[in-house]
Amino acid sequence: MTAGTERTAGGPGAAEVEAAAAGTVGPGTPHEHEAWRHRHVLDVDDFSIAEIELVMATAVEMKEILSRPIKKVPTLRGTSVTIIFWEASTRTRVSFEVAAKNLSADVVNIAAQASSVVKGESLVDTIRTIEALGADMIVMRHGTSGAPYLAAEHFSGHVLNGGDGWHAHPTQALLDLYTMRERLPGGTVAGRKVVILGDVLHSRVARSNIWTLGKSGAELWLCGPATLLRGFERWAGTAIPGNAPFTVTSDVERALDGADVVMVLRIQKERQESGLLPPLREYTARFALTRERLALASPDALVMHPGPMNEGLEIMPDVATGTQSVISDQVTNGVAVRMALLFLVSGVRDVE
Ligand code: NCD
Repeated sequence: MTAGTERTAGGPGAAEVEAAAAGTVGPGTPHEHEAWRHRHVLDVDDFSIAEIELVMATAVEMKEILSRPIKKVPTLRGTSVTIIFWEASTRTRVSFEVAAKNLSADVVNIAAQASSVVKGESLVDTIRTIEALGADMIVMRHGTSGAPYLAAEHFSGHVLNGGDGWHAHPTQALLDLYTMRERLPGGTVAGRKVVILGDVLHSRVARSNIWTLGKSGAELWLCGPATLLRGFERWAGTAIPGNAPFTVTSDVERALDGADVVMVLRIQKERQESGLLPPLREYTARFALTRERLALASPDALVMHPGPMNEGLEIMPDVATGTQSVISDQVTNGVAVRMALLFLVSGVRDVE
């Protein structure tokens, strides 16, 4: 959402992450990354392709650290990271916590009650309190779209968005991209057919993936019942410079035909307005990823799901755990990608 000068990617390089890992880079010695200019991670819509590449390259280095017997490096020693989630989460919250701890940050978890902070002033009060308690970074999830942007305006440190309403889930989109690049032959999504299947309407995961996949040149298809695709045809019809166009359809056979990646989304029963969702049995009959439907995709197509899954509703258990599934890789890669993002933002002091 911010304009800014894009610089060419030099990549952090193993040396820089290694230096960080060795403790020679840290809060006391700010490290500047040439291609990186974000103080916060609010969404991926304003990430340049160079910045996306930098996250990917840094995550590769972090993954190497995770393969060591001792996975802890002193990079963020002395940095205080507060994690506050107003919405339920297992993998995103735990993965941020593990990522921050692997970098030796001090982690504080706040169990926010959905009812205690709803919007506006009270959110700002909470953020100010967290700042007064000494946080350098806030990782937050909130049911209201835009909440992390408000937090960022009132916090002098770094805000990382762990999901806001239907709007954005930047770290999920980046770990999805990382997983695709790691698993697809050639290591790129450019020209690959990626299908996002399911409850697109309520999905912040889909919205952030549209940006990362569009900028990376994937052939993106969004598929689901027409009521759960509302508004996306208009978005698809808007040419965005630098982003590949995408296709929106309810024709599941056409969408899956020859697909290289099928990313299934959870049916978000908690966010449904009446009338949008077909009866669940009908949804499963028409749109669930079954073994038969997956056979329409390319033989090595990757099966993905951000979790949590409703097995038997949007995806069949044998597909979710089958040989083509990379769902557990997504979870594992989430730690490396979040370590990369915590590291990258920590080097940015005054710019956004
Ligand atoms: C997603 C979320 O919360 O946005 N899950 C996740 O972060 N892994 C998707 C969902 O809730 O269905």
